Amino acid sequence: MEDSSLLYHVEDTIGTLTINRQRVMNAMDMDSINRLSTLLDEIADTNIRCLVITGAGEKSFVAGADIKEMKDMSRAQGENLSRAGNRVMRKLELFQVPVIAAVNGYALGGGLELALACDIRLASENASFAMPEAKLGIIPGYGGIQRMSRIIGQGRAREMVFTARRFDAREALKWGLVNAVYPLADLMPEALRLAATIAANAPIAIMSAKKIMNESVGLELAAADQLEREAFGNCFGTWDQREAMQAFVEKRKPQPFKG
Ligand code: CAA
Repeated sequence: MEDSSLLYHVEDTIGTLTINRQRVMNAMDMDSINRLSTLLDEIADTNIRCLVITGAGEKSFVAGADIKEMKDMSRAQGENLSRAGNRVMRKLELFQVPVIAAVNGYALGGGLELALACDIRLASENASFAMPEAKLGIIPGYGGIQRMSRIIGQGRAREMVFTARRFDAREALKWGLVNAVYPLADLMPEALRLAATIAANAPIAIMSAKKIMNESVGLELAAADQLEREAFGNCFGTWDQREAMQAFVEKRKPQPFKG
């Protein structure tokens, strides 16, 4: 599955999706947002166990929405763009298997919002983050305000949005925005290694855990516990659960998980 603005390939049950608009620092126009949405639908029904998202080249993950396209938009067009962005970010957040953002350079505006909709963020040493919208007369429109506050806390998120300042990978690591920072050459191998570790675990358990983590946001603990109980129960009786526990008892390595 491949078109000009998105590249996609699968190896050993790990999908790699590359935003490929290098000419404009991988800024995503409306067409690439729509293509991303379609691609996520297409790959949702495949047997991948983890998805890695990165940007083409060595400079930029995604430099945000396409400013040249947005420049003359009306109020209604702006709202439509936000709706399309909100939908695709939510689709990514709810994507059934874990998604890792391998942030290989600029993650600005909508690009940072894309990374925030992923489950785990890894960065290269040259990565650079910002919510520069306030310098452009707008606000983050792809759910970034909400997700940023949830991930790094209200105070830091407000600082980022109100100042629109850039911050580097070290600061992102300190704030918990990214889980780890690597030299650029090591970023993709490390992202794929992490993906392989996840992919080797029981797929039904991983998908259930992700679902619960998403669905319990904003719920009271009792309601979240109820969701967890049901999902926990659903894991029992699966081939993977039986085999893994039987192997433990028999002191042997379990056979690979089947999902
Ligand atoms: N939209 C459209 N084109 C972009 C772009 C963007 N977001 N970011 C970069 N480009 C284009 C540049 O216009 C330039 O094109 P030309 O060669 O035709 O002039 C090309 O990419 C290379 O960029 P630069 O020459 O600027 O490269 P640089 O190395 O000097 O700087 C950069 C790189 C820091 C990423 C800089 O381009 C930049 O600041 N880009 C804008 C980033 C931004 O503000 N993003 C937020 C957009 S708003 C948003 O995303 C709203 C939302 O919530 C959805």
